[in-house]
Amino acid sequence: VNNIVLVGFMGSGKTTVGERLAERMGRRFIDLDQEIARDAGRSIAEIFAQEGETGFRERETRGLEQVLKEDGAVIAAGGGAPLRDSNWRDIRERGCVVALTAEPAELARRLNGSHGRPLLRPDPRSAIGSLLPSRMSRYLEADLVVPTDGKAPAQVAAEIESQLPAASIERIPVAVPGAAHDAVVGTRLSGLVASHLRRLNPSGPALIVSDAVVAASHAAALTDAIEAIGLAVRLHLVPAGEAAKELAVLAGIYDSLGSAGVDRDGALLALGGGTVGDVAGFAAATWLRGIRYVQMPTTLLAMVDSSIGGKTAINLAAGKNLAGAVHQPTAVFCDLNYLATLPDDDYQASLAEVIKTALIADAAFVAWLATNLPPLLRREPGVLRDAVSRSIAIKADIVTRDPQERGERALLNYGHTVGHALERAAGFGALRHGVAVAWGMEVAARISVLTGACAPEVVARQSSLLRAAGLLTAAPSVDRADLLRAMRHDKKSRSGQLRWVLLRDAGRAVYGQQVEPAVVDAALSEVLGI
Ligand SMILES: NC(=O)c1ccc[n+]([C@@H]2O[C@H](COP(=O)([O-])OP(=O)(O)OC[C@H]3O[C@@H](n4cnc5c(N)ncnc54)[C@H](O)[C@@H]3O)[C@@H](O)[C@H]2O)c1
Ligand SMILES: [Zn+2]
Repeated sequence: VNNIVLVGFMGSGKTTVGERLAERMGRRFIDLDQEIARDAGRSIAEIFAQEGETGFRERETRGLEQVLKEDGAVIAAGGGAPLRDSNWRDIRERGCVVALTAEPAELARRLNGSHGRPLLRPDPRSAIGSLLPSRMSRYLEADLVVPTDGKAPAQVAAEIESQLPAASIERIPVAVPGAAHDAVVGTRLSGLVASHLRRLNPSGPALIVSDAVVAASHAAALTDAIEAIGLAVRLHLVPAGEAAKELAVLAGIYDSLGSAGVDRDGALLALGGGTVGDVAGFAAATWLRGIRYVQMPTTLLAMVDSSIGGKTAINLAAGKNLAGAVHQPTAVFCDLNYLATLPDDDYQASLAEVIKTALIADAAFVAWLATNLPPLLRREPGVLRDAVSRSIAIKADIVTRDPQERGERALLNYGHTVGHALERAAGFGALRHGVAVAWGMEVAARISVLTGACAPEVVARQSSLLRAAGLLTAAPSVDRADLLRAMRHDKKSRSGQLRWVLLRDAGRAVYGQQVEPAVVDAALSEVLGI
């Protein structure tokens, strides 16, 4: 959904700025109050006089519903419209929300002598004093907050356009108890990130943690956007790839947090793939026992998987991800433009996680993938946006029901028992994670059929999806004994017993399943030829 909805106090300039913004962007402009008046055949003042504020608010909610049905419009919502929670939900669901603000004195000056605004009685100054504080907290929840003091409407419109995403955004709630936040999927999201950061109101400079590869292409636009709204920011680079998740690298981030003076009200941004997200997230989880942080994933894997759910970790000599914490970000921003610079092999391998997500939880998504994999492979923007959004929504739901991984969250490990073991047995780095997971899914699916949990046709559908994504090309050559040893090593095994995630149907899986070793053996030899 692609509407731009302007909110703000009376006198903040919603209508004048909205008209100019619509003109600049070649979009239709709609003024909610004008629509309400036209629909009622009376002025707003008359509606207030005859029906009271209650009557007006009812009309406002109905009018809002109507105008939000538009797609691609610039809409000026009335100053009070965002206050009703259901209105606010609708506005956020159907568009990108821009709040215009101005100092009370400036508002009073602009509103002086204005007629036809019933809420300004007895006079603008006292109305501003009584209404503005409570409304302001709602306005500040907008995606973009743009101060208008001392600026001409055309200038405000230009600023808004420069900070808006390039196209429509998807907003996916991650409703984890006590740490609910949104994942936003779209393109050119730096302006939104900057506004989010301002809302966090960090006490000092925000620290961006990134790696040199990612930072070379993507850090400048982000720091520019943050500095453009008057916030201070520092960049801390970590090594690219798995080398980022080392204790010494974590210590380096602590040093930067310390020298930047980041205190308990500070904030950190993780800009990178899963490795950056994991180490930066762990730094945020532990610095002063936890500060706020934002995930800005730049790989497909990080967008659909690692940035969602709050798991953070570093590697130790004894194994991967051994020291970690669950610490939810305040927001996740998935800027799909970042994926343009991602190498094909990385992108393709991560499609295994997308297919996995569909298979464990969403039959409709499985069907959608069956027709949309070719354009997804070509990274067609709309298809990519839908695939990322749907994957995030599924993971977010599972994580919301089981934030601490006590049960259901294990479903996300479908294909990972054998996948992780293949990575380990082949020597870390030899096999891409997604490639290994794809083979792991094939083994798990085969076990599902052998144990009667699922029909063979389901496995065929899975295989054809994975093949369409360019996966399952050459079976990895690993030694069977090494693989079995690596599987026993899997930290998900409970008291030495391996537990499996098995498929029941395309879109449904079960976790915590015990499987006879003979069945595992049969599946391994059928799928991997070992
Ligand atoms: N926390 C979780 O829940 C969770 C879940 C799954 C995986 N993980 C972790 O995620 C890590 C893997 O993440 P990954 O696959 O994103 O790898 P990664 O972070 O190592 O990134 C892969 C490579 O791509 C480069 N890169 C990143 N974004 C790029 C871009 N937009 N353009 C060009 N190059 C880019 C990086 O510099 C790196 O060299 C593993 O350490 C894994 O343990 C964590
Ligand atoms: Zn994975």
